[in-house]
Amino acid sequence: MSVSATAVAHPNIALIKYWGKRDEAMQLPATGSLSLTLGIAPTTTTVTLSDDPKVAADLGTLNGEEMRGKDLARVQKFLDLVRERAGSQAYAQVDSVNEIPTGAGLASSASGFAALTLAAAKAFGLDYSKAELSALARRGSGSASRSIFGGLVEWLPGHDDASSHAVELDNPGLELSLVVAVLSPGRKKIDSRAAMRQTVATSPFFSAWVEQVPRDIEEMKAAIAAADFTAVGSLAEANAMRMHATMLGALPPVRYWNSDSVAALDLVASLREEGTECYATMDAGPNVKVICRSGDAEAIACRFRSEFDGIDVLVSGSGPGAYLM
Ligand code: PMV
Repeated sequence: MSVSATAVAHPNIALIKYWGKRDEAMQLPATGSLSLTLGIAPTTTTVTLSDDPKVAADLGTLNGEEMRGKDLARVQKFLDLVRERAGSQAYAQVDSVNEIPTGAGLASSASGFAALTLAAAKAFGLDYSKAELSALARRGSGSASRSIFGGLVEWLPGHDDASSHAVELDNPGLELSLVVAVLSPGRKKIDSRAAMRQTVATSPFFSAWVEQVPRDIEEMKAAIAAADFTAVGSLAEANAMRMHATMLGALPPVRYWNSDSVAALDLVASLREEGTECYATMDAGPNVKVICRSGDAEAIACRFRSEFDGIDVLVSGSGPGAYLM
């Protein structure tokens, strides 16, 4: 009988962003980052070890379609690492279902690699702590290190492979929700890996970003500890704008925004002026996520649905860390 394990992981959205690596091969980030794990749009992944000697490669499906090209190569490279750690020769079948548009800056790589890490570790018999699972997930996709944990999470930059993992933060009383306006569900034009590389190599603003982020993290942790929603939201928005400013400074510039993104940022500012306190954040795509108090989330979502015809608007509170089924 073949060995198989299934795991579920949720996406996370960074309040203080990860943008740029200091070590490409090890996927060590230039700075720490801090995020909220969502309670919606999970990835469910089953890893089945093959006992057929004729199978000579890992294979997979994503949302029922065969994985190929870059997606498959990334999974295979990750499984090579798991095999090496486990001292195994077995190839695997990876079947993954994403409940969110893949590759649209909605953190599908975070939930994807967190679920793959947990399922593969179990199937290959690695008895890892959560910190070790988080460090391993980081090798698949940096932000996946944070989706191993639930709620508010900090990814420590660390000083080597083992110490660069995420930790869960205490939340003494913030009732945060995110409203995700899916302005464009298509795959992004430049993936975050290539875009980070371009920013690190060419943006004159990158060194300022690396100096700023540790300050933003400390300030964010103080705001969380004080359950100060205004400080959390305004700093998260400022940090996201700083990240995009840094990548706009690259050559050629990296620009994920489209005209709907700008209109959505304007809508967030209008809502604030009208008395609904909320803040915007954006990742490696044109979609805008609104950070708000949980009690305001549905009203904000309604407003987005009425201002942007036909778009999907998702609402999420805080969600759990990755778990085995
Ligand atoms: O882990 P990656 O390669 O998907 O990079 C994530 C980058 C951002 O989403 C833009 C920021 C972040 O911290 O999640």
